Amino acid sequence: MVQINISFLKPGMKLLSDLTTPQGNLLLPAGSLLDERIINRCKKWGVVQADVESPEQSGQEDWTEIDPELLSQAKTQVQELFCRHRHPSQFIKVLAGDIVKQKAAALASEESAPLEAEELQQQEPTFSKQELDLPKLDADRIVSNTEELASLPEVFAKIINTLNDPDTTADSLAEIISYDVNLSAKLIKLVNSPLYGLIQKVDSISRAISLLGLQTVKNLAVNASVMEMFKDLSPDLLDMHSFWKHSIACGVVAQLLWGSSGRKGGEVFFLSGTLHDIGRLIILKDHPEYMRAVLLHPERGQKPLYQLEKKIWGFTHFELGAKLITSWNFPLIFSDLVKYHHFPKKARYEGEATNIHFADIIVHALELGESGEKNVPPVEAEFNKDLGVSLKDLRELLEQIKHLVHHIQNIFFQEKDEE
Ligand SMILES: [Fe+2]
Ligand SMILES: [Fe+2]
Repeated sequence: MVQINISFLKPGMKLLSDLTTPQGNLLLPAGSLLDERIINRCKKWGVVQADVESPEQSGQEDWTEIDPELLSQAKTQVQELFCRHRHPSQFIKVLAGDIVKQKAAALASEESAPLEAEELQQQEPTFSKQELDLPKLDADRIVSNTEELASLPEVFAKIINTLNDPDTTADSLAEIISYDVNLSAKLIKLVNSPLYGLIQKVDSISRAISLLGLQTVKNLAVNASVMEMFKDLSPDLLDMHSFWKHSIACGVVAQLLWGSSGRKGGEVFFLSGTLHDIGRLIILKDHPEYMRAVLLHPERGQKPLYQLEKKIWGFTHFELGAKLITSWNFPLIFSDLVKYHHFPKKARYEGEATNIHFADIIVHALELGESGEKNVPPVEAEFNKDLGVSLKDLRELLEQIKHLVHHIQNIFFQEKDEE
C-alpha cells in the first residue's frame, strides 16, 4: 500500500483505505475503483492523497526521471522567481522545490502555461523621462476623492455598512443579500465549498449564517461588494481577472494556513486577502500613468514593487490601501493586515498579519494570478516559529492549496468546473 499524491491518481486504481475530505468526511470506502469523475471530485474537495495498491500499478510519475534538460529549465525559471531570496530559509527551499517539480512536470507534458505577467514583462519599456519624473501623489487626497462607496449599487453599499453595524442581525443580513440573486448564489456555492468543510448542504443564506456565523457571511458578502467596485478597470496594464485570482488565492491560503496552525476563527482572512493589494487598484483606476510608471520601470524585477511605488508615488500600495479601508470604517483589523502584509512584525495583529504575509508569498510562488509584483516578495518572518506550521504540513498543504484555490476561483469567475 502506498500514499499517492492526488495529481497522480489514474482511473482504474483501487483504494486500499477509506478516502476522506481534509475535514474527515467519508468520500469513498476502501475497495472502490477510481474513475475520472471521482478523481475530479476528490481534487475539488481538497483531497491531497489516497492509499492505492502500489506505485507501479498506480503509474505514479517520478519527477527525478524527467529529462535533465527540462529540469534545468524549470530550475532557471524558479531561480528567477525567487531572485530576492539569496539566503533562502527552509520554508523557501520547500516552496521552491515543489515549484521546480511542478514546472518540470508541466514542461514535460507541454502544458506549461505562460506566466500571466509575461506580456507586460516582454514589452520594451516605452516610457519617456517625463513619465518617470511624475510629481508625487497625495495619498490622503486620493482617499478623500475616492467615491466608490457612494457610487456602488445600493445592495453592495448596504452590505458594506453592515460591517460596522452592531445591530445587524442574521435576518437583516440575509434579507440584504437576497436582493442580489447572483451574489446569493455565489455565497451559497462558497459556503458549500471544501473551504468550510460543512457536512450539511447549505441552501440558503440564513442557513449559512446559522452554520458559519454572522461575521463570516458578512465578510464574504463584503468581499463580493469590493470586487464589484473595481470590475470595470481597463485590463491594459493589469488584468483584473488575474489580479482578483491573486487576491482570492491569498485569502484562501491564509484561511488554510490559519486552520493548519490549529487556531480557531480565521473569518477575517478571506476578505483580508481580497483587500490586501487594493491600493494598486486605486492607483490603476484614478492615476493609471503612475501604475504604468511602476510596472514598466527599468528596475522592476530588481527591487520589490513597493520600493518603486514609494519612489514614484510617494507611498506604497499597502499604505494607500490601509488608508482607504480606514476611510470606509472597516474594523481596525482589516486596515492593520493590509498595512503590514509585507512587514508583519510591525502589525498590531501580528499573528494574523504573519499569516497573510506567508499566504501572499505562497500565492506569488505558485503563480496563482498576478498582483503586479514580478517575483516572490521578501520574507519578513519565520515560517515555522512565527506561524506555527511545520514544513511537513506545508508540503501537504501545497497540493491542497492548488486544488482548493482552483475550485474557489471557479465560483467567482464562473469558469467551466471540472465536474
Ligand atoms: Fe502587497
Ligand atoms: Fe499580494
